[in-house]
Amino acid sequence: MWGRAAARARRRIAGARTASTAAAAEEEKSSCRAVVVPRFGGPEVLEVRQGVPVPDLKPGQVLVRARAVSINPLDLRMRSGYGRSIFEPILPLIIGRDISGEVVATTSSFTIGQEVFGALHPTAIRGTYTDYAILSQDELTPKPSTLTHVEASAIPFAALTAWRALHGSARISEGQRVLVIGGGGDVGQSAVQLAVAAGCSVSATCGTQSIEQVLSLGAEKAIDYTAEDTESAVKGKFDAVLDTIGEPETERVGINVLRRGGHYMTLQGEAAVLADRYGLAVGLPAATAALLKKQMQYRYSHGIGLDLFE
Ligand SMILES: NC(=O)c1ccc[n+]([C@@H]2O[C@H](COP(=O)([O-])OP(=O)(O)OC[C@H]3O[C@@H](n4cnc5c(N)ncnc54)[C@H](OP(=O)(O)O)[C@@H]3O)[C@@H](O)[C@H]2O)c1
Repeated sequence: MWGRAAARARRRIAGARTASTAAAAEEEKSSCRAVVVPRFGGPEVLEVRQGVPVPDLKPGQVLVRARAVSINPLDLRMRSGYGRSIFEPILPLIIGRDISGEVVATTSSFTIGQEVFGALHPTAIRGTYTDYAILSQDELTPKPSTLTHVEASAIPFAALTAWRALHGSARISEGQRVLVIGGGGDVGQSAVQLAVAAGCSVSATCGTQSIEQVLSLGAEKAIDYTAEDTESAVKGKFDAVLDTIGEPETERVGINVLRRGGHYMTLQGEAAVLADRYGLAVGLPAATAALLKKQMQYRYSHGIGLDLFE
């Protein structure tokens, strides 16, 4: 099935690099298997479907044969109806952001057979829970041979979120102090490692069972949020706080422990929720307005920046 779809896709791409094998050339199919969401709901709505179309590649895109995909909280939320104002009209939906696999056709600088891993943009329509996923060349990178496909597929979406926050927004640098709220989760563990690698002094909150793991990643302090008061457990002010939980209490603590000029970054925005409730035309501007208002409030009251990575 994979070989047939790949052969078909390669033929359809003008100028695509091809690795023509006699076997692949004989086989013709423009469809593959995929895990789809035909309607919103719990895990029981998921269906494995045959014959799902493999679209033509556009310039700069890569057709990746999936060897492993991973499950992010966003996948579960999309399955349950988060973002329904965008996704409902296009059901059945293929969910999934992360992937690790092999290039089978491309209009980019990748080569056929190359092992790659990466993640789709959060708003991409056709996900990765399929034999053949389509990603842009900017969403992929060569897979190190030291990682298995399963390991590689667990990294990109969560780690890129942490990277965008710490490097893109806060621009952390050596010697700074970083607090990661929710350091035991996927985004949190990525953030701890990225901040440690950047030479920062890192503290993190996490559950009891994650304390040792967080310390083993290089955090100087791991605070058990189920047993300790975070605000009293941390000493001094931080340059950046990444809050992967985004509850009112974690936001309050995060804001209070920042120095003036510091950055508070949260992953919990209201755009999708408000768009689902009031429609795109009203919900998205309302979410933007609410975010701007909060940014201005914190700048005025605490002298800090606030950024959202939804
Ligand atoms: N994964 C992604 O790629 C991604 C990307 C963008 C946004 N997000 C969003 O970011 C959030 C976190 O994602 P994730 O993938 O990191 O989730 P996750 O792997 O499920 O981790 C969540 C962690 O939060 C911890 N936790 C819960 N309440 C806490 C609190 N009050 N204080 C400190 N830690 C607390 C839990 O710790 P214990 O289990 O130890 O109690 C758990 O380890 C989700 O809302 C998700 O939608 C995720």
